[in-house]
Amino acid sequence: MAHVKKLMDKFPFALRTNWPQETNAVNKVIENLKERGIEILDLTASNPTNNGFNYPELLLPALNSLDNLNYEPDACGKIQAREAVAKYYAHQQQLISPQDIILTASTSEAYSFLMRLLVNPGEKVLVPRPSYPLFQFLLEINDVDFAQYPLVYDGQWHLDCQALEGLVDAKTKAIILVNPNNPTGSYISNKELAFLNDLCFKHKIAIISDEVFFDYALAPVERVSLAGNQTALTFVLGGLSKTMALPQMKCAWILASGPQEILQDARSRLEIIADTYLSVNTPVQNALPFWLKHASQLQEQIIARVKENGQWLMAHLKEHTQALSFEGGWYVTLRIPAVKSEEEWVLEFLNEDHVSVYPGYFFDFEKEAYIVLSLLPPASIFQEAAGRILKRLERV
Ligand SMILES: Cc1ncc(COP(=O)(O)O)c(C=O)c1O
Repeated sequence: MAHVKKLMDKFPFALRTNWPQETNAVNKVIENLKERGIEILDLTASNPTNNGFNYPELLLPALNSLDNLNYEPDACGKIQAREAVAKYYAHQQQLISPQDIILTASTSEAYSFLMRLLVNPGEKVLVPRPSYPLFQFLLEINDVDFAQYPLVYDGQWHLDCQALEGLVDAKTKAIILVNPNNPTGSYISNKELAFLNDLCFKHKIAIISDEVFFDYALAPVERVSLAGNQTALTFVLGGLSKTMALPQMKCAWILASGPQEILQDARSRLEIIADTYLSVNTPVQNALPFWLKHASQLQEQIIARVKENGQWLMAHLKEHTQALSFEGGWYVTLRIPAVKSEEEWVLEFLNEDHVSVYPGYFFDFEKEAYIVLSLLPPASIFQEAAGRILKRLERV
């Protein structure tokens, strides 16, 4: 056994997998509470399938088709499935041709395909800050360097256009947007898009707009999708995990657009990447045309829940704690007193209140102290959990 251990220690795994292996302090406390049988109220919930939403049973028979026994692979996804995605966007006034759609198993996989398409090792992409914590892994796994461009808050979130432009150099191959951003819930404005288009056209940079939460607008705000954006080479990402609250079905899409010649070239290269994996399963592609017709049934429930929890929270905030404005998505950010660190707060909420929340540093907020709450849990759980932490915050 000892010699096996020694061999394992020395095995020359790829350096990109040298991630820290130890459990962080927050997860240690969670594990400990669970071992002691203590129930944790989870305000980090991001899985829609276990938060009490009503999934129409009629979604399931669509998987029970004899067509599922045939395998007729198409690198970019079955044409009927791509047509269904195009139709879904057409309902929202976005005209996308099925030939500009590439299906993938997840948006994470879509990011990988796009990194393989756009970026050589040693080149970089720009990502927003604060934003989706998985970017670091998604990019490092693909040997892609990245730099973070700031989003700034003045009562609303904005792109810091000057800072973004300052980060662009000859090695910059793509700018990633999250629209609306996770966790700030901010959509990009027309003015910001015009700036980005100019910048990316000028420097031959692609835009990747992650729009998985686009359907979840919580108020009538100015929101612009980049689907069909023509000025710069653009890839919009969406998928079943948020559009239909079905992350387990593993189906997402890339909508490609931009100047025709570049687009054509991009499409044929992407097709070869997709053909190498053929990763989207047939049953889900066959079900997609039927499923997407029912997307609004899930979206309406989630929007109603997120609004109800958001309104309850706003009505119960006391001084010292402020909710930052959020326009869409499933999360809310609270600015809390910086009398202790985010980690200390989060550990205290866990140990004393048995409530789990995200610390702002998880999303790379520039300063302390912020926490992020999921608005997905059923109202009774949300109110109990948020009520406990607000009470604690009042005592500052
Ligand atoms: C911004 C963003 N993009 C993508 C995803 C995940 O999508 P998928 O399940 O399709 O990989 C998430 C999940 O929370 C997300 O927050």
